[in-house]
Amino acid sequence: MRIRAAVLEEFGRPLEVQELDLEEPRTGEVLVRLVACGVCHTDLYTASGADPSGYAPTVLGHEGAGVVERVGEGVSSLAPGDHVVTLFSPQCRECVHCRSDQTNLCLAIRDMQGRGLLPDGTTRLSRDGEPIRHFMGTSTFAECTVMPEIALAKVREDAPLDKACVFACGLSTGLGAAMNTAKVEPGSTCVVFGAGLVGLGAVAGCRLQGAERIVAVDLSEDRLELARGQGATDTLVGGPDTVERVVEMTNGFGADYTFEATGNVVVMRQAVESARMGWGLCTVAGVAGKGETLDVVPRLLITGRRIAGSSFGGVKGRDQVPQLVERWLAGEIDVDPLVSQTLTLDDVNRGFELMEAQDGIRSVIRFGEAA
Ligand SMILES: NC(=O)c1ccc[n+]([C@@H]2O[C@H](COP(=O)([O-])OP(=O)(O)OC[C@H]3O[C@@H](n4cnc5c(N)ncnc54)[C@H](O)[C@@H]3O)[C@@H](O)[C@H]2O)c1
Ligand SMILES: [Zn+2]
Ligand SMILES: [Zn+2]
Repeated sequence: MRIRAAVLEEFGRPLEVQELDLEEPRTGEVLVRLVACGVCHTDLYTASGADPSGYAPTVLGHEGAGVVERVGEGVSSLAPGDHVVTLFSPQCRECVHCRSDQTNLCLAIRDMQGRGLLPDGTTRLSRDGEPIRHFMGTSTFAECTVMPEIALAKVREDAPLDKACVFACGLSTGLGAAMNTAKVEPGSTCVVFGAGLVGLGAVAGCRLQGAERIVAVDLSEDRLELARGQGATDTLVGGPDTVERVVEMTNGFGADYTFEATGNVVVMRQAVESARMGWGLCTVAGVAGKGETLDVVPRLLITGRRIAGSSFGGVKGRDQVPQLVERWLAGEIDVDPLVSQTLTLDDVNRGFELMEAQDGIRSVIRFGEAA
């Protein structure tokens, strides 16, 4: 079939919306018609050429939500008409990592996905017979995509897909960092550094876990206000003295749980230093720049602080994304303030501009709508 998609032709250049060919789904694959897709930093990171493992040409996009149109042979968990959220982090339910409750890093298709190929080592996307690689196993800046069954989470049909797409990446990452990785305990004190989609998700996750105090730290007053809306009890404008201020606010000890959601290694260090001695746990969700390292005084660890990293919030996508969506529909998670702009596919580069200007939390592309 012919589809319209936003193609990264060359690093550092705007995406080009073009017509491409998309083949039918093969064994274990599913054809999804996208309804909406969020524009995320990882798309921009790859588009800019900063990601050393990036490749072009490719169709970017990984925060997709849509409707199953057709399924390939052997697909048993999804059928045409099902509503799905795309997963750049799949869940095969069989590999050694899927069988462990300690990680969500499924091993089933990792190598091929990293190379821009579907699990059988080929692509379904092409242009004039030339293969075009898939991005993050998703390529959702497109009217339709073909993805492995194990990389799709089936969600309730009454969940509006133009909001549900934020569960495909940033929001679930933040929620899961608090709920799965840190497993925040009721009554605890938490500090969240960064109040973008990931940090706001972490604030909401701390609240859902029953944290008593949630301090949000950001440079933007507007974003701190949004953090209050998600459950922050205190806010701080970030700066060189943030650690001292957190320590002062917590009887001289620091917080039980800290979360880093900025991608800045200086802030990561502050997040480690803001965790309390004895048991303070710092969860790092931000993605640092190429070659950057986190500087930590080892004594902080000997005296009981711990550091954990979190990819996609430790969320096992097929099992847990539907559960998070349930909690949203039950009124426990407020998604509306997180989707700030709605764009058409042709406006995809505008989504990058808005992100760079920090104008709003998430821009969402809606497919099939007139410009
Ligand atoms: N681990 C994962 O699976 C995963 C998934 C998605 C995103 N990420 C990463 O998480 C990070 C956050 O993503 P996002 O979409 O929320 O980004 P964002 O840019 O929308 O939010 C980052 C926030 O950090 C704030 N900030 C910057 N410097 C600060 C400082 N010195 N002190 C306090 N706050 C500061 C900014 O004002 C901004 O609000 C990024 O690094 C992103 O790449 C990781
Ligand atoms: Zn993302
Ligand atoms: Zn697996």
